[in-house]
Amino acid sequence: MKFYLDTGNVEEIKRIVKLGLVDGVTTNPSLIAKEGRVFKDVIKEITSIVSGPVSAEVVALDVDGMLKEAHEIAQWAPNVVIKLPMTEAGLEATHQLSKEGIKTNVTLIFSVAQGLMAAKAGATYVSPFVGRLDDIGVDGMKLVRELREVLDFHDLPAQIIAASIRTLGHLEAAALAGAHIATIPGSLLPSLWKHPLTDVGIERFLKDWEKVPK
Ligand code: E4P
Repeated sequence: MKFYLDTGNVEEIKRIVKLGLVDGVTTNPSLIAKEGRVFKDVIKEITSIVSGPVSAEVVALDVDGMLKEAHEIAQWAPNVVIKLPMTEAGLEATHQLSKEGIKTNVTLIFSVAQGLMAAKAGATYVSPFVGRLDDIGVDGMKLVRELREVLDFHDLPAQIIAASIRTLGHLEAAALAGAHIATIPGSLLPSLWKHPLTDVGIERFLKDWEKVPK
């Protein structure tokens, strides 16, 4: 499974890239707004740090507006991916962009039907939002598992990005459910590599090391 960082923060990306854990990056308008910087500047900087796919989201709600933004964003870097919302207009724009060979990520997927439609429209990536489903008491991971089955069963090449990942449990379950990719907020990362028994183990080893004649 590939790891993407779900962030617009360049310093965070630079830090995690050093660990070899960044196969790509996803952003959304809320993450970009947090940075207080110009959208184009942020995306261009991220695409210069990370060689994998970097999702940048359109904000228009109509097809012409989406395509206009998408064509502009697609010029910013070769590894940029156009993120579009799961709406009728989003599907039409996704289909058009796929015919032009422009990569897309259809976001805000909350049902198998939505994921299937996005994949059929030609989306490169489909993003089911696990955490936001869990927030309303629906099993988000069931969606990831079933969507993977459906895509495989029908030979659809779209890749699943498990999004809205909030916990270590989400990440592990997404890997088991067959998500091709998980996009993870940087703040969650330490919980992925930390374990209390690792800390206790290091402490014990260092204590015993003091007894070794030097
Ligand atoms: C993914 O592409 C989205 O940007 C993100 O995962 C949304 O996460 P949230 O539900 O925690 O805002």
